[in-house]
Amino acid sequence: MTASLLRADVAALAPYVPGDQPREAGWVKLNTNEHPDVLPGITDAVRAALDEQVRLYPDPTCSALRDHLAERYGVPPEQIIVGNGSDELLALTLRACVDPGERVVTPYPTYSVYRTLAEIHGAQLLEIDSDDRFALPVDELVRAGGRVTFIAHPNAPTGKPVTHDEMAALCAGLNGVVVTDEAYVDFGATSMLSLLSHHPNLLITRTMSKGFGLAGLRIGYAFGSDELIGGLYKVKDSYNVNRLSQAAGIAALAQYELAMAANRRLARRRDELAEILRTTFGWRVWPSATNFLLVEPQPQPAAEVYAALRARRVLVRYFHQRRLERYLRISIGSESDHVALVGALREVVA
Ligand SMILES: Cc1ncc(COP(=O)(O)O)c(C=O)c1O
Repeated sequence: MTASLLRADVAALAPYVPGDQPREAGWVKLNTNEHPDVLPGITDAVRAALDEQVRLYPDPTCSALRDHLAERYGVPPEQIIVGNGSDELLALTLRACVDPGERVVTPYPTYSVYRTLAEIHGAQLLEIDSDDRFALPVDELVRAGGRVTFIAHPNAPTGKPVTHDEMAALCAGLNGVVVTDEAYVDFGATSMLSLLSHHPNLLITRTMSKGFGLAGLRIGYAFGSDELIGGLYKVKDSYNVNRLSQAAGIAALAQYELAMAANRRLARRRDELAEILRTTFGWRVWPSATNFLLVEPQPQPAAEVYAALRARRVLVRYFHQRRLERYLRISIGSESDHVALVGALREVVA
């Protein structure tokens, strides 16, 4: 028998499966929490950055973009790192902070990329179940004593935010790193930024994929103590963010107020859709502080509704995962996306 070319961890890995990205147009795409709008000025900024300079490597530390982030969020540039999406920063955190075999902890259910990254890294993963209302099991998370503990705030796919007190208790109770993944914070939840100066073990990751509509350009950033951010710089690839993305990130921050106004409109559409799903279709809809809804299409099986919508070119997310079998996750789209969704549901729902 020939030996595997792969590490045992990788050979055994069940990889993360991203939501479908159909190649052809014509789908109503409510499956990967992308924003329905593009901010004005973004495509112009990218075009302006597209010149002969493309033969040169980009700024390895995104210094101009970090200056803008520093000004916007009141965090010194040395305490900020930019990544190729926030997923890269999550991986870098394990690379910098966890030895293979050491413990990585998450609540369950949550963003399943944490599990995949821990498995790739050869860490010992401990998932701690939240209760039936998806409340964060704070005491158990503290007792688990992870080298890294990943907390999505608000959580995905439940949409539930973490409270300031819960996060402070985690940071104070744990010696390891607490990653607060604020991918969805731009839709109205309160950031944990105010805890940063009190807790050197807190790392806050953010993304421009969701609240700034830039998923295709892969821009994530993290705030943390000098020690943590310094560690992430040591282990990152030299040129991890390309020059077009750096330009787009700066242009997006210049439109911050506009982006947040669009997100407030999106949140109103989310609440309207939630109401329709509850009252017209009798579904259970979980409260959400994000750009998606977790719904329980009772009494029809979620998998059946997912497939019937898909047959009508409406994509939502179904998770083949423990405790999530009864649910669908629906991203908040444009008004016309919602009209198409509700129209398809009238055909699909008995
Ligand atoms: C909770 C959470 N964190 C991080 C990400 C990744 O974001 P990015 O596009 O910045 O890699 C996602 C994307 O769906 C997410 O749901």
